[in-house]
Amino acid sequence: KMNAFVSSLMSKMTLDEKIGQLNLVTPGGGVATGAVVSTDVEGKIKAGKVGGLFGVIGVDKIRQAQELAVTGSHLKIPLIFGSDVIHGYKTTFPIPLGLSCSWDIPMIERSARVAATEASADGLCWVFSPMVDIARDPRWGRVAEGAGEDPYLGSQISAAMIRGYQGTNLAADNTVMACVKHFALYGAAEGGRDYNTVDMSRIKMYEYYLPPYKAAVDAGVGSVMSSFNEIDGIPATGNKWLLTDLLRRQWGFKGFVVSDYTSVSEMIDHGMGDLQTVSALALNAGLDMDMVAEGFLNTTKKSLPEKKVTQAQIDAACRRILEAKYKLGLFDDPYRYCNPQRAAKEVLSADKRAAAREFGVHSTVLLKNSNQTLPLKKSGTIALIGPLANNKSNMLGTWAVSGDAQLSVPVLDGMKAVGGSGVNIVYAKGANVTDDPELAKRANVFGERVDVGPGTPEQLLSEAVATATKADVIVAVVGEASEFTGEASSRTDLSLPQSQRRLLDELAKTGKPLVVVLMSGRPLTIEHESSLATSLLQVWFEGHEAGNAIADVLFGAYNPSGKLSMSWPRNVGQIPVYYNHKNTGRPQDDTKPGQKFRSNYLDVANTPLYAFGYGLSYTSFSYSPVQLSKNTMRASEKITATVTVTNSGNYDGEEVVQLYIRDMVGSVTRPVKELKGFQKIRLRKGESRQVSFTIDDEMLKFWNSDLKHVSEPGAFKVFIGGSSDNVQEANFTLMK
Ligand code: IFM
Repeated sequence: KMNAFVSSLMSKMTLDEKIGQLNLVTPGGGVATGAVVSTDVEGKIKAGKVGGLFGVIGVDKIRQAQELAVTGSHLKIPLIFGSDVIHGYKTTFPIPLGLSCSWDIPMIERSARVAATEASADGLCWVFSPMVDIARDPRWGRVAEGAGEDPYLGSQISAAMIRGYQGTNLAADNTVMACVKHFALYGAAEGGRDYNTVDMSRIKMYEYYLPPYKAAVDAGVGSVMSSFNEIDGIPATGNKWLLTDLLRRQWGFKGFVVSDYTSVSEMIDHGMGDLQTVSALALNAGLDMDMVAEGFLNTTKKSLPEKKVTQAQIDAACRRILEAKYKLGLFDDPYRYCNPQRAAKEVLSADKRAAAREFGVHSTVLLKNSNQTLPLKKSGTIALIGPLANNKSNMLGTWAVSGDAQLSVPVLDGMKAVGGSGVNIVYAKGANVTDDPELAKRANVFGERVDVGPGTPEQLLSEAVATATKADVIVAVVGEASEFTGEASSRTDLSLPQSQRRLLDELAKTGKPLVVVLMSGRPLTIEHESSLATSLLQVWFEGHEAGNAIADVLFGAYNPSGKLSMSWPRNVGQIPVYYNHKNTGRPQDDTKPGQKFRSNYLDVANTPLYAFGYGLSYTSFSYSPVQLSKNTMRASEKITATVTVTNSGNYDGEEVVQLYIRDMVGSVTRPVKELKGFQKIRLRKGESRQVSFTIDDEMLKFWNSDLKHVSEPGAFKVFIGGSSDNVQEANFTLMK
């Protein structure tokens, strides 16, 4: 039915109208992350020169624009409306890196479902999410938008988000089409510098970087966004191997590919030719829709008679865009997503705020808790100190395009509400987020979120110390400004700003228990600060309900269960530091660091400060040795690996039980450990449970030098534990 409908429509379309469908424009405003190229958007819509719009927010505005297309244009083809719905829509959830630390796949799916419900009620039918770029380099500001360093966890999250956004029926008025991005390898930019060159082996791509995109395709994602970077010397947006051979031929992707913002015209700066050349390159490569650059719009008609592109390529791209609109139900009802009653009911509704709070507590990672300082008692005096302690403008985190930061709950308000009347909370700001005006200026593109005053640093500091001295415990809320993270926010210095380091030093000198609540969009280098802290709680940027969620965890209404999805380096020089590294020919024995002529540094350990998979609880979990159902298996067989996990502490709690495997000998070198499974379990205090994983041949496969996905007979190690660096192990052999 869809084919016949689209074919019939296309038979009526002029060449210009077909090319028009390939054009995605934005009127600009807060979504402009580059030049705004389009002029006379209205006129273009009426002339059939626009396929879709992004950055138009709200039912009324979307309806108006849709009206221009369906009443004002010749063939009345509806527009598709997209937006960056990255961690929630108007109701903002924790940043994706935070959400990934929940390792709670059903909850992450639900977060996408809730976002889809809200966004679709407000007129949108297409979201530029999930961002599934594997990242091993926290200098890159966009690690905040992804799920960290691991391909297995990343793939689980990728598929869950597609399910959450798209549901089972794209045409339903409460589902949206997802757009997995940034295809591909965008997270591997050299030096962590945004938009920089990527260069990697095919094996590394297939093994570590491609799986989450593939998982999205397997989950039925409707669209893919090409990335800014080059791959094998050809920018992704014009890379035929990537967009056609891999994505469509090998993976069977059936949806459409949209470029990133001006990534078509950016190929001019990459050095690939003029606008006509790069636009033709992109269409030849398999790109269907051009975001903002208007390269397709302005050059394709000329390229056709010059045989730089073919009619079949234009038709194929146009067909894919029309099919997407058909699947979304836009031909049946172009205003399907423009229902003001639904908008009034769904946007910023109480249930969404409640969900944001729930997602927030589950994203929190407890990194340190000496003397069981946490949870806090709901009595006595707490000194709440820090530039992020009574702050709304930084709670949402990066790329919350539609979120209103002023609707956020500051930590101070959350602490008062959750702590109740029995606890006395005294507050002082203590420091500015930064005293570096240049950094503040560069980061403050989207608003005044990085404050450098008022109050001199000395006044702020002495007020904070005086406040802290009166208290039983200090809670210091410090970290990055949200705009230090995200797109175009790469940093080479990952320490806390100097103003805040000084604050923590002075607070520590008071001798009071020091609970550090750390907000950031990336792993930071905080070895010194973590040694000062009695307890350390990593809260990322938790969104609108940040203050309540943080208070829930601090006072023990929720026992933290988050586990890091990205390793935390000790210093920037260690980067990249990631758990699934190779052994090398001269591995260091980490129990004997510093040996000469081993693969190590003279001045820092090889290990991260906090490892992938690490995260504490207010209770403690102990693990029995791993039991294997047998010690040998054939490829057609399976092995069951079992541990008993015991909640040996004083609180009920949740634990993420992690399964890692190591292939001891291979025809290509294999990592020291790879995540192959996990289960999040809840245990009451004193309770024990057996947790089993089934190991099959598929889990033992890797990409060999012929790029075949194979397993090879030989010895394997199985590791199970609560962190990649704290595991029980057992051995088995895969037989021929
Ligand atoms: O979706 C984003 C992308 O992640 C980065 N460049 C701009 C796009 C549209 O806003």
